[in-house]
Amino acid sequence: MFATAQGAVVLGLLCGVLSAGASLCPSGCECSEAALTVKCVSKDLRDIPTRIPGYTRNLFIIGNHIREIGPEAFQGLDNVTNLSLSNNRISEVKSNTFFSLRSLRSLDLSNNQLAVIHPEAFSVQSRMLRELNLSLALYNHSSIMDLATSLRWSTLSDLQGLDLSSNGLVYLPPGIFCHLTGLRRLQLANNSIVSIHNGTFTGLDHLQDLDLTHNALRTFREEALKELDLLRSARLHLAENPFTCTCDIESFAAWLNNSRAKVMDTDHLTCVFPITLQNTSLLSVGEVELGCHKTGDGDNLALQTSYVFLGLVLGFVGLMFLFVLYLNRKGIKKRIYDMRDACREVWEGYHYRYEIDSDPRLSQVSTSADV
Ligand SMILES: *[C@@H]1O[C@H](CO)[C@@H](O)[C@H](O)[C@H]1NC(C)=O
Ligand SMILES: *[C@@H]1O[C@H](CO)[C@@H](O)[C@H](O)[C@H]1NC(C)=O
Ligand SMILES: *[C@@H]1O[C@H](CO)[C@@H](O)[C@H](O)[C@H]1NC(C)=O
Ligand SMILES: *[C@@H]1O[C@H](CO)[C@@H](O)[C@H](O)[C@H]1NC(C)=O
Ligand SMILES: *[C@@H]1O[C@H](CO)[C@@H](O)[C@H](O)[C@H]1NC(C)=O
Ligand SMILES: *[C@@H]1O[C@H](CO)[C@@H](O)[C@H](O)[C@H]1NC(C)=O
Ligand SMILES: *[C@@H]1O[C@H](CO)[C@@H](O)[C@H](O)[C@H]1NC(C)=O
Ligand SMILES: *[C@@H]1O[C@H](CO)[C@@H](O)[C@H](O)[C@H]1NC(C)=O
Repeated sequence: MFATAQGAVVLGLLCGVLSAGASLCPSGCECSEAALTVKCVSKDLRDIPTRIPGYTRNLFIIGNHIREIGPEAFQGLDNVTNLSLSNNRISEVKSNTFFSLRSLRSLDLSNNQLAVIHPEAFSVQSRMLRELNLSLALYNHSSIMDLATSLRWSTLSDLQGLDLSSNGLVYLPPGIFCHLTGLRRLQLANNSIVSIHNGTFTGLDHLQDLDLTHNALRTFREEALKELDLLRSARLHLAENPFTCTCDIESFAAWLNNSRAKVMDTDHLTCVFPITLQNTSLLSVGEVELGCHKTGDGDNLALQTSYVFLGLVLGFVGLMFLFVLYLNRKGIKKRIYDMRDACREVWEGYHYRYEIDSDPRLSQVSTSADV
């Protein structure tokens, strides 16, 4: 009797310990204390689970239906270094959301629908954050303005990697990266960026790798080339852009020829338009293919050509004239003879009258008659 009571107590204690242990892992999640990892994958979660164990270093809450996140969600998670919230429906990130995650080094927000990003959304206490993944994360292109503000306001000067690929970005606000002075890797692949302007890459003095592949760049103008030159130690990736080989590409082609060491995929850069130059390497499009070098010479050439043409036309007209003369030679001969005869008649008429006028006898006759 006493023994069974003791057994019940032991059992109760055991149950208590077990249930306490179980309660340490939120429902819908898998927790591994050995691996310091908590995973809540594809469980239709609408909010960040509460009571996530304090030991957690790697926290994956992915493939759920989380819509917004704020600072209350991550209290007491001092040890989390890797946080992934990818593949959710997050549309709003409030100020200081990640502020209490004092060990956070890597934040993955890829594949979300961020439309509202508060200015201090990415503020962190300890400047530990190294990697920020915002690939396929923005709701639409307009979100870039919010993001630009928050990248300026948040304390991210030690961020080393930023992934902004696949966001449909058309342009980058000037100075968007100016506070990310420690950035080393910037992914801008698979957007619709049409041009690079003065100030686009301001502040990225330590950039080592810039990926601009799969964008909408037709060329890089002088302004853009200067901007790329400012990235002194960066390796550039520029392939898969619709490079258009007209006169506008000349300075870029020349720059490319001198920057092979900097551009990693130089050999894969080809003209996409016009069709006649498709697949031609940008390194081999020179003056000849583009036909736009030194417009002054071009004008002179055109002028010379027109002179030659004029000469040819005049010569032809002259030849035609002579030919017509030749064909009409009989008529002309006849006309000349007619003219000569006419002349002769006239001449003879004069001659006759002169002879009469100058005959002294005849003049005497007339004077004597007057007398
Ligand atoms: C965080 O990790 C440290 C060891 O790195 C440990 O001493 C501490 O207890 C952990 N914090 C929590 C809440 O488990
Ligand atoms: C945590 O993030 C770092 C990058 O900061 C990465 O190298 C590491 O593999 C990540 N660990 C896990 C478990 O995902
Ligand atoms: C960012 O996330 C995407 C999708 O989850 C992944 O393909 C990509 O490799 C990540 N970027 C970095 C720099 O790890
Ligand atoms: C982006 O989405 C917002 C909210 O729906 C909308 O007001 C805005 O016009 C959209 N911008 C673009 C460029 O589609
Ligand atoms: C490129 O971005 C679009 C969205 O803008 C996305 O649907 C597509 O999967 C991305 N492609 C790659 C290869 O990442
Ligand atoms: C770029 O902008 C800076 C100031 O923002 C200015 O000093 C510089 O002259 C500009 N460069 C060009 C090429 O426009
Ligand atoms: C490329 O540069 C080399 C010298 O580095 C020069 O000889 C060559 O003409 C240049 N080619 C073009 C197409 O500019
Ligand atoms: C250029 O290359 C693509 C893919 O290799 C090919 O489909 C296309 O026909 C090529 N165009 C020309 C004009 O050679």
